[in-house]
Amino acid sequence: MGRLEGKVIVMSAAAQGIGRAAAIAFAREGALVTATDINEEKLKELASYPGIKTRVVDVTKRDQIEALAKEFDHVDVLFNVAGFVHHGSILDCAEADWDFTMNLNVRSMYLMIKVFLPKMLARKSGNIINMASVASSIKGVVNRCAYSTSKAAIIGLTKSVAADFIEQGIRCNCICPGTVDTPSLRERIQARPDPEQAMRDFLARQKMGRMCTAEEVAHLCVYLAADESAFITGTEQIIDGGWSM
Ligand SMILES: NC(=O)c1ccc[n+]([C@@H]2O[C@H](COP(=O)([O-])OP(=O)(O)OC[C@H]3O[C@@H](n4cnc5c(N)ncnc54)[C@H](O)[C@@H]3O)[C@@H](O)[C@H]2O)c1
Repeated sequence: MGRLEGKVIVMSAAAQGIGRAAAIAFAREGALVTATDINEEKLKELASYPGIKTRVVDVTKRDQIEALAKEFDHVDVLFNVAGFVHHGSILDCAEADWDFTMNLNVRSMYLMIKVFLPKMLARKSGNIINMASVASSIKGVVNRCAYSTSKAAIIGLTKSVAADFIEQGIRCNCICPGTVDTPSLRERIQARPDPEQAMRDFLARQKMGRMCTAEEVAHLCVYLAADESAFITGTEQIIDGGWSM
């Protein structure tokens, strides 16, 4: 019997990185996972895993989220993962960068929760997990202005939802990783003027001498999705190898 046996899980950004690792870990524990992303090609790789079905959904589009929600009688766990990293201080951040970041990182979670929460309330049972970051209200990080602002908003959104619906059987927590070795992190390093130096800089700030793996974050995702964490709500779960201590 898996730790998530029979749980219906809907999640975003499942095609790669932390989302992909979490989708696989959820399914391995017996969950029925609907893995969504905008990257249809990469998403296809997940379709062969037992327990995972895939859907192409842009989480910034309300109509696409509503169409997805129509497929479900009930959802046990909603896992909002989609996010984008803008590199730079406030002076490097054009209005378009700011708006793009807030739209993808924060407004998408607002939309997903607004659409799926009523299904959870109807059964007085639901579990929402949002992907934040320690680069947020937890830690000031150089060149992460728009990103950290958006992730701090996700912590606020998480606590707000948790407080509003705790008496109706809803839990809401967020995950705050440090630096996780994912394809997008590798792309960000490659995009720097000196990628080798950028990699050295990323490693130099790791107090444990290495980055987190997506699989390590997935372990925490499984715990938060499982009934083992039933008494945990309104929290930010830090997984950063001591970076923010
Ligand atoms: N990698 C890290 O170091 C790190 C650290 C802390 C927090 N996080 C957060 O974890 C989450 C996942 O990061 P990652 O690095 O594992 O993933 P990633 O950046 O490698 O992948 C993100 C996925 O989101 C998808 N996506 C982008 N726009 C979308 C949209 N509009 N609708 C649906 N899907 C969309 C992409 O296709 C991609 O598959 C993000 O919210 C990120 O901010 C990452």
